[in-house]
Amino acid sequence: MNHKVQIDAVIRIHEQIRGAYRQMYLEAPSIAQVAEPGQFVHLQLPGLGERVLRRPFSICAADAGRGLLRIVYKVVGVGTEHLQTLQPGQHLNILGPLGRGFSPLPRDRRSILVGGGYGCAAMYFVAQRAGVLPLVLLGARGQEDVILAEEFQALGCEVRIATDDGTLGQKGRVTVLLEQAAQEFPQAWLAACGPLPMLKALSQFVAQQHWDGELSLDSAMCCGMGACFACVIKRKADNEQGWSYARVCHDGPVFKAGDIYWE
Ligand SMILES: Cc1cc2nc3c(=O)[nH]c(=O)nc-3n(C[C@H](O)[C@H](O)[C@H](O)COP(=O)(O)OP(=O)(O)OC[C@H]3O[C@@H](n4cnc5c(N)ncnc54)[C@H](O)[C@@H]3O)c2cc1C
Ligand code: FES
Repeated sequence: MNHKVQIDAVIRIHEQIRGAYRQMYLEAPSIAQVAEPGQFVHLQLPGLGERVLRRPFSICAADAGRGLLRIVYKVVGVGTEHLQTLQPGQHLNILGPLGRGFSPLPRDRRSILVGGGYGCAAMYFVAQRAGVLPLVLLGARGQEDVILAEEFQALGCEVRIATDDGTLGQKGRVTVLLEQAAQEFPQAWLAACGPLPMLKALSQFVAQQHWDGELSLDSAMCCGMGACFACVIKRKADNEQGWSYARVCHDGPVFKAGDIYWE
């Protein structure tokens, strides 16, 4: 069922959490009440003009009782640079919740959540709503990009970290941690969000292990609601070419790991 709404939400809390990462709590009861892990909101940034494209951000947590939505974002360009200047009390026009989220984690095998960079925000909502305690693997370039580790631990999750430069946790890609986990858990369910090269490697790993899983894809977006086809990716299809286009904003952002047609 489609519950999306467009509202002017009041910013309640806005602060840095680490390096270029910041978090924002928005008063948005109608979205907080129905948001599901893996869904996102599309933010219109005041000051950039109404004709500038909205920016998509994963819902990191939703507190239905207090009517609050949490997003965690990394400052990377003009929109997020502007976003970081907004103060509590100001309004932000938000559209959401959008997209198809993650399936509930299965109870018949170990669930492994993998988060890369700001993809950890989406995975935190999965862990928070999970009826079982997943193993959490966090990957990042360096320690400055490892976010929310303590919060996953506070939920009771075991957290393992890998950084490319070895400044925190194991040195190397998060797939090294996954290979180790596969020794412990021959059958597992994988759910992940992060940069596309990471998701491609995870998708191959899931196939090799004969695991199942879901991946939340990142794609540049325009309308965010399935109308413009700006965000398409290739999804496997039973046709001559072997694929058809799927809209990340509407058919995803969460897809079955085995359904994505990687090139
Ligand atoms: C479904 C979804 C969920 C997302 N969730 C989060 C989140 O929880 N936290 C967060 O920090 N970011 C998230 N993003 C990415 C976020 O939307 C972009 O970082 C943001 O739009 C950049 O805006 P900007 O104006 O600051 O950057 P721009 O000036 O537009 O771009 C700056 C740089 O970032 C790159 N870029 C822009 N958009 C994307 C994108 N979607 N993916 C990869 N690179 C991009 C550009 O190519 C450019 O190199 C999500 C994106 C999607 C599609
Ligand atoms: S952004 Fe318009 S269809 Fe996805």
